[in-house]
Amino acid sequence: MAAPDTDPTSDVVETDSVDTELEDTNLGDPELFDKVVNLSKRRGVVYPSAEIYGGFRSTYDYGPVGVLLLRNVKDAWWKSMVQRRHDVVGLDASILSPPAIWEASGHLANFTDPLVDCRSCGSRHRLDKLEEPDVCPTCGAKGEFTEPRHFNLMFKTHAGPVEGDGAVAYLRPETAQGMFINFANVLNSSRKKPPFGIAQIGKSFRNEITPGNFVFRTREFEQMEMEFFVPPAEAEEWYKYWCDTRFQWYLDHGMPEDWIRLRPHEEDELSHYSTATADVEYMFPWGWDELEGIANRGDYDLTQHAKHSGEKLEYFDQAANERYVPHVIEPAAGATRTAFAFLLAAYDEEEVRGETRVVLRLHPSLAPYKIAVLPLSKKAELQGPAKELLAKLQPHWMCDYDETQAIGRRYRRQDELGTPYAVTFDFDSLEDNAVTVRDRDTMEQERIGIDSLVAYFREKLDPIA
Ligand code: GAP
Repeated sequence: MAAPDTDPTSDVVETDSVDTELEDTNLGDPELFDKVVNLSKRRGVVYPSAEIYGGFRSTYDYGPVGVLLLRNVKDAWWKSMVQRRHDVVGLDASILSPPAIWEASGHLANFTDPLVDCRSCGSRHRLDKLEEPDVCPTCGAKGEFTEPRHFNLMFKTHAGPVEGDGAVAYLRPETAQGMFINFANVLNSSRKKPPFGIAQIGKSFRNEITPGNFVFRTREFEQMEMEFFVPPAEAEEWYKYWCDTRFQWYLDHGMPEDWIRLRPHEEDELSHYSTATADVEYMFPWGWDELEGIANRGDYDLTQHAKHSGEKLEYFDQAANERYVPHVIEPAAGATRTAFAFLLAAYDEEEVRGETRVVLRLHPSLAPYKIAVLPLSKKAELQGPAKELLAKLQPHWMCDYDETQAIGRRYRRQDELGTPYAVTFDFDSLEDNAVTVRDRDTMEQERIGIDSLVAYFREKLDPIA
């Protein structure tokens, strides 16, 4: 169904789809969400967008620290999904797309949420997410909802100077279709054959009715998706493989085992073309919620695009003298949502000498800065060599440099940024050509010669990069 003429999201009440009760959480700190949101603003992770103009609801800008965290999450995914494999290649498809793609994929007809208005207070809600389908959560009125309307979540726009049916374009609501429509291109140009995958990271856009919970659900977000094309007989086996592999990726990057789970979908949750789907879920402060879906999509997507485009989207296996439409296993993760989950999981507070130390215990591969260079004082005699030291480390790792405030305050600031190592250049350094290296997690310090510093950090940081 086409999107309605009026903007039904304009006065939607921002109750989120998920249960905001905190009693479910195993994180032990009901204020965690607020603490992380506050830290994000204070330390330059995420800012509300267009803030100087009063904000633009549910959009966010990633600050100097957030952009690094997000990039590291995406890099970690790319490394494991593309760089370290021989059977997956990358893609960067366009965001603007013609209606034909979304007609074929089924998004124009089916990518809708049921929307109801309360006649009593005028608030709007997603019917499928209401606790009681007949009761307005805003004013408590019973039986006052309008008939549900099917609201299409795609952002529609016009390409070119003339607005008209021929110029209609959509912002992609998922990166996945880029891989399906380029299946033949990649097959013909990359010498890959099933089983092989096409991976992509990029922005997607959905006109969500109930965005919320900070960057958990936004209208503009980033996805990390991979479509793995397999011989039909191997689909089940590959589905299991990708469920395990993707779950392990979160553990490998520091997600505590108790805080994530792999939840297979019930029969009635499956899309009509999927024979199996499982979600990787994280225990958010409001309860279990999705980070990634892994789906066995069968041959639905390639068949649909073949039918609508008239192109053959199949593989000819010469050895077996057999032609078939590959089945697809799709691990589809949210980059922005996953970065947020890593942030929540990493947040920690502890008492140190009567004060609360806030520390982000991020896995070093995800930490925005790997090393902070801190001259003990702002004096020129320390500043110069400290900056030289910074220049030595920067080709290898993302480093921060800070010369303001007392050294203890600067350590705390780096703890809040999740920087695994701080290097202090002091007056002794001028004599012994060594620096003090402080470990974020243990707060232990050791003296390391400047000449062996790169080798020292290589040993610490590179094996887990
Ligand atoms: N191609 C399949 C697909 O797009 P999805 O479950 O709709 O599947 C995949 O999206 C992932 O993208 C989700 O698990 C979630 O992490 C992320 N995602 C989806 N909608 C989002 C939104 N509005 N804001 C932030 N992340 C979102």
